[in-house]
Amino acid sequence: MADAPVDTVASVPVAVVGAGPAGLMLAHRLGRAGVGTIVLDTRTRHEIETTQRAGILEADVARDLVETGVSDRILREGHEHEGTGIRFGGRAHRIHFKALVGESVWLYPQTDVFIDLADARERDGGTVHFGVRDTEVLDVTTDAPRVRYTAADGSRHEIRARYVVGADGSRSMCRNLVPEDRRVRYGKEYPFAWFGIMAEAPRSAPELVYAHSEHGFALISQRTETVQRMYFQCDPDESVDAWPDDRIWETLQARVAGEDGFRLAEGPVLEKSVLRFRSFVQEPMRWGSMVLAGDAAHTVPPTGARGLNLALHDVKVLADVLLRALGGEGEAALDDYQPRALRRIWRAQNFSHWLTELLHTPPGASPFDRRRRLGELDNVVGTRAGRLYLSEQYTGWPVSAQG
Ligand code: PHB
Repeated sequence: MADAPVDTVASVPVAVVGAGPAGLMLAHRLGRAGVGTIVLDTRTRHEIETTQRAGILEADVARDLVETGVSDRILREGHEHEGTGIRFGGRAHRIHFKALVGESVWLYPQTDVFIDLADARERDGGTVHFGVRDTEVLDVTTDAPRVRYTAADGSRHEIRARYVVGADGSRSMCRNLVPEDRRVRYGKEYPFAWFGIMAEAPRSAPELVYAHSEHGFALISQRTETVQRMYFQCDPDESVDAWPDDRIWETLQARVAGEDGFRLAEGPVLEKSVLRFRSFVQEPMRWGSMVLAGDAAHTVPPTGARGLNLALHDVKVLADVLLRALGGEGEAALDDYQPRALRRIWRAQNFSHWLTELLHTPPGASPFDRRRRLGELDNVVGTRAGRLYLSEQYTGWPVSAQG
């Protein structure tokens, strides 16, 4: 296969495997600096556009989308949230990020970020091939790696590149190119999952609501004036067929109920799915001429919505080192990538894990565990240090943050 005849051969400085937000944002950043890319994805554009993902962007990430010229749609259609709601023990609390740390976050779904990036690639004449198959990444331990693939029409193609970026998501094949005896995989599975719904209903609250109750976790998020996104903690093996609308609403209402009489506005459930989650990091993030970015190198549980933010941070650092490497510094410039990216990755791993454990109730939790968790929640919302910690972590860390 590696040397079978192909229909076309193209040469480009950087080949990118994966056209999700990480791959496309990298291509956008490199394109702005005059460096060509070819981006490939096994999924069709429609498949990526219709896969529901999280919806919170750090202020820095939102600013970057506008300032690097991807799109300013977020300013018109996104919603800036200066804080978030947290409910437990039947009471509502608000963490005011803006007042505490001077930053806010933006509610803007990942699917919209993807649409903006895919449109920007088209507008700027970038090459993106969706719906390819049989992708093979070859010769990554040389300075002339190649990527071979079959296009949607069945024709075979080869890309010759100087560097290959594996931005091929949580089921990455690129990360398997790092030999087994040279890689370390850190990971953790959780004994619960999220049952996610899209519902046709008005907003129930002006901001997000993270709810911890004796019945388990729930998150009330939003999409538009008339469509809302919500989740509740469930068993990882839960089947969506066992959940008619009235059972879903009853469960969600019980998890947000409290002495203030708070109730969710209900409506028809348009979509439902079970999201299993885990924490994962692979090191090293580079092997020869191949570099990993985003979910290919690390996965976080969705609590706190760090995944997309982290992926876009990776490619900010990666674009910088690739430009230096291609600009004359050579491959040595890539040595800077992993330490700069990993620092934020492990901070985000810790935050996502911490917030997950704080808000969920694992099956079989003892009475002590349950009461201790309420004590921790009280510490988070009831002390200035706790509120500051949550605000600083949730709104992200500046890219240059060293401290
Ligand atoms: C979402 O809107 O889908 C969302 C928001 C915040 C999270 C996770 C998911 O922490």
